[in-house]
Amino acid sequence: MRARRTDQTLLQASDTSLVYRTRNGSITALGGVDLDVPRGAFVSVIGSSGCGKSSLLKLFAGLLRPSRGAVRIDGADIVGPDRRVGIAFQRPTLMPWKTVLQNVLVPAAAQGRDRKESQHHAETLLALVGLAGFASNFPRELSGGMQQRVGLARMMVHEPEVLLLDEPFSALDALTREELMVELQRLWLSNARTALFVTHSIAEAAFLSDRVVVMSPRPGRIVATIDVPFERPRPLSVLETVGFAALTGQIRHALDAAATRP
Ligand SMILES: Nc1ncnc2c1ncn2[C@@H]1O[C@H](COP(=O)(O)OP(=O)(O)OP(=O)(O)O)[C@@H](O)[C@H]1O
Ligand SMILES: [Mg+2]
Repeated sequence: MRARRTDQTLLQASDTSLVYRTRNGSITALGGVDLDVPRGAFVSVIGSSGCGKSSLLKLFAGLLRPSRGAVRIDGADIVGPDRRVGIAFQRPTLMPWKTVLQNVLVPAAAQGRDRKESQHHAETLLALVGLAGFASNFPRELSGGMQQRVGLARMMVHEPEVLLLDEPFSALDALTREELMVELQRLWLSNARTALFVTHSIAEAAFLSDRVVVMSPRPGRIVATIDVPFERPRPLSVLETVGFAALTGQIRHALDAAATRP
């Protein structure tokens, strides 16, 4: 069934609820999420631990089905994994027996794309994330931050229209995180993709996004939407500006209000 939508919306959740059934009863992870992600936009979802961020991303990835409501891509219900979507998880989960280049090529191979073309694209992406000289190395020969970069390159190798990112920098130190934020922005700008990014980090959300949506504690719902006005490309120095501090203050305030809401 195709739903009514504006032409601008690429990802959409409407009144989306998710209940997990466990041996100890059911857990309502999401309690009626309404979210529109415009085509070409970078949208972050921020909320406290356990509020349902990863669950929401898994719904958009087609790995889970909603218990109520709908999740859609380009107006059509999401019924399973979609080749238009690339995913980056918290841990890059690289295959240790494959080289960096072979790891990046995994999604392209799974989709039966032309090998030569994909290899050329993978090499370009590795250069974009600063790993041009490491294509033939194995993951164990890379630092944690370098492995995360391989994960970002792998997410993009099959040229997905939509990027889903679940705290891809959460295991990193602050400096590497900032470096990778800039790299992710560059990847996103160079390919004009639609991105949905979940994070705990107010600064990460504010730096990367066109729009930040704030989730309530579980069962998660969207309780605030904040547009980010800074021009792109954004240098790291934007983190030091008064405007940035005001914006992160606004996001923090919305998170606090969500946490104390009756
Ligand atoms: N497979 C599962 N089975 C049962 N309950 C689950 C499952 N996955 C998640 N949950 C529950 O759903 C809720 C939301 O989990 P989710 O992983 O989506 O939260 P999150 O916002 O991503 O948290 P975090 O920031 O810690 O990663 C939690 O209360 C969790 O216990
Ligand atoms: Mg999570």
